[in-house]
Amino acid sequence: MTQDEMKKEAGWAALKYVEKDSIVGVGTGSTVNHFIDALGTMKDEIKGAVSSSDASTEKLQGLGIEVFSCNDVMSLDIYVDGADEINPAREMIKGGGAALTREKIVAAISKKFICIVDDTKAVDVLGQFPLPVEVIPMARSYVARELVKLGGDPAYREGVVTDNGNVILDVHNLSITEPKKLEQQINAIAGVVTVGLFAERGADVVITGTPNGAKIEE
Ligand code: 5RP
Repeated sequence: MTQDEMKKEAGWAALKYVEKDSIVGVGTGSTVNHFIDALGTMKDEIKGAVSSSDASTEKLQGLGIEVFSCNDVMSLDIYVDGADEINPAREMIKGGGAALTREKIVAAISKKFICIVDDTKAVDVLGQFPLPVEVIPMARSYVARELVKLGGDPAYREGVVTDNGNVILDVHNLSITEPKKLEQQINAIAGVVTVGLFAERGADVVITGTPNGAKIEE
């Protein structure tokens, strides 16, 4: 089975968590794109979605699913999103698709975070995948210097501007043994909009696409 087929297994398996007449939190990425395809089969049974990126919004609307602003919704029952890495404590690195800030906001208003991944994303210690940090453009060099002090090796993601008009630094060579602490430390640097560590608010359910189908951990 290819990696994309495993992503599809995970994406479609998440459909069982979607309640009728609900508004669904929808993340970003190639795994989520499979979930959006699945959600399209229920489009007449749900109220709509809150989306974490312009790309997901476009795909949802293309399937006829109404997209609500985050500001018009008090809370969501579920948020379905992928991850770049996930550890046994269900802490994640996210932001490979540069949508980390909106992802964190939608996750924050959601009661249940359902993480959909293929089985290459499971790790014991986070940090093999470079940690994305969204930064206000004028703070880029300062934040990079502060990230070096924390032991990382930041690289500017050339040519990428986030949906919020900011830039991304990808921090290499971190071995993240205390994810919650590092999340707080990086978020405290002036000019950082969001770090792609989802540790304070990790996943509640993990659906892993494997060669034998979807494995669900609640
Ligand atoms: C986007 C993300 C994605 O969830 C993450 O990059 C995983 O993407 P994919 O499903 O394409 O492997 O955080 O910002």
